[in-house]
Amino acid sequence: MKMIVEIENLTKTYTQGHEQILVLEDINLCLRPGEFISVVGPSGSGKSTLLNLIGLLDNVYSGSIKLFSRSVSSLDEEEKAKMRLENIGFVFQFDSLLEEFTVIENIEMPARILGKPDANFSKALLEKFGLLEIADKFPMDISGGEKQRAAVLRALRNGPSLLIADEPTGNLDRYNSKIVLEDLKKASFRGTSVIMVTHNEEAAKYAERIYHLSDGKLK
Ligand SMILES: Nc1ncnc2c1ncn2[C@@H]1O[C@H](COP(=O)(O)OP(=O)(O)OP(=O)(O)O)[C@@H](O)[C@H]1O
Ligand SMILES: [Mg+2]
Repeated sequence: MKMIVEIENLTKTYTQGHEQILVLEDINLCLRPGEFISVVGPSGSGKSTLLNLIGLLDNVYSGSIKLFSRSVSSLDEEEKAKMRLENIGFVFQFDSLLEEFTVIENIEMPARILGKPDANFSKALLEKFGLLEIADKFPMDISGGEKQRAAVLRALRNGPSLLIADEPTGNLDRYNSKIVLEDLKKASFRGTSVIMVTHNEEAAKYAERIYHLSDGKLK
């Protein structure tokens, strides 16, 4: 089976002045097609560090990271940018919709950047997730939960094989968290592999498999 993410013996240290901070130590992880996994760990345990490495936003590490069966160390910057745009979707804790564009325009944005705009596709995506009502609204006129749901759809717009979510419900109440987590689950049922990091055990339970990260170790 072709793996979406395959990490072997990953170690990451940050250098601060003369000090070396060991954040990830000898980590192994795999993510299969259509699988939804979560990584739980306290603040500062290295969750975002791990996602930055998987999301090709950081290339200083030791060990092996493979995305879609390709070693990321073999990719040049152009190939990485292409992979990010076409194959990886990102959702963060704080909503990142562009305020001057409507919801559907925000969702279309990755497709426009790719040079493949199709507003009908975005509309269909909104419909599939029951969000058609907010299509033409501006971010300031929708709720925090709706913003985050729109951000998930934007991340899914180019049909990525991998969705990376960094504490996607960190800013939401329980009710809205549940809806966003259900959306992520739905995305995985539709074939997109999802890796979510969170410090919330309850949110983590939406995943099929849960990893725990602490003291640099992933278990
Ligand atoms: N650029 C950097 N330079 C030096 N140290 C860093 C850097 N980025 C993060 N760190 C340190 O690495 C550790 C892990 O940080 P990281 O942001 O990955 O944690 P986290 O689990 O995402 O935390 P949170 O739940 O608060 O978002 C922390 O001790 C942090 O201070
Ligand atoms: Mg973080």
